[in-house]
Amino acid sequence: MTYNMKFFIDTASLAQIREAHELGVLDGVTTNPSLMAKEGISGEQRVQQHYIDICNTVDGDVSAEVISTDFTGIVTEGERLAALHPNIVVKVPMIKEGVKAIKYFTGKGIKTNCTLVFGAGQALLAAKAGATYVSPFIGRLDDISQDGVQLIAQIRRIYDNYGMSTQILAASIRHPLHIVQCAELGADVATCPLSAITALFNHPLTDSGLEKFLADHKKAQAATEKVK
Ligand code: E4P
Repeated sequence: MTYNMKFFIDTASLAQIREAHELGVLDGVTTNPSLMAKEGISGEQRVQQHYIDICNTVDGDVSAEVISTDFTGIVTEGERLAALHPNIVVKVPMIKEGVKAIKYFTGKGIKTNCTLVFGAGQALLAAKAGATYVSPFIGRLDDISQDGVQLIAQIRRIYDNYGMSTQILAASIRHPLHIVQCAELGADVATCPLSAITALFNHPLTDSGLEKFLADHKKAQAATEKVK
């Protein structure tokens, strides 16, 4: 387990990445083919340039997902992505060919993120192959009435039993409570939409407390002015 929970932003939007970076709490970025499509980024050159732009915006790991599903394709694509920038992490799906490729990348010193993980057994396989990160999708499990957060607890126990160094990257986060629950359970990273990160700031007592402090200060100022 790491001793600083990392915050990644789960988007391919440069504007959102910049906004999160300016908050001073951002440690990295995750993308996926759907998020890239949402930003209208396609074609090998544009995709590669976009990853470079992301890496130049944030100082931290940036997950870039492969599209191939066969070993040779994943390796070729992943090596190309990894060569773009030292902070690129090759994101590989939890399939047999993907796990084989993770093992290969591990041997080459290329960082990996094993994605689309929905079970503890899958997380165990990813760690055995040497994945840098494993991405359990907690929101999508909640969506089908399974307890996504429980999966984080289960993976934490398994990795701690054996001192496995793969970092648990809680993904598919839907709201700020997910982030807090993942922190309580010792997830190493949470990758979140910007809205979930900014929602962590909010508490009505903070707002009313600040309003009262400022009003009292104003009153005291006015009283001082009167005496003068
Ligand atoms: C991150 O790595 C995942 O691709 C992402 O968190 C999936 O989130 P979603 O379930 O909201 O699409």
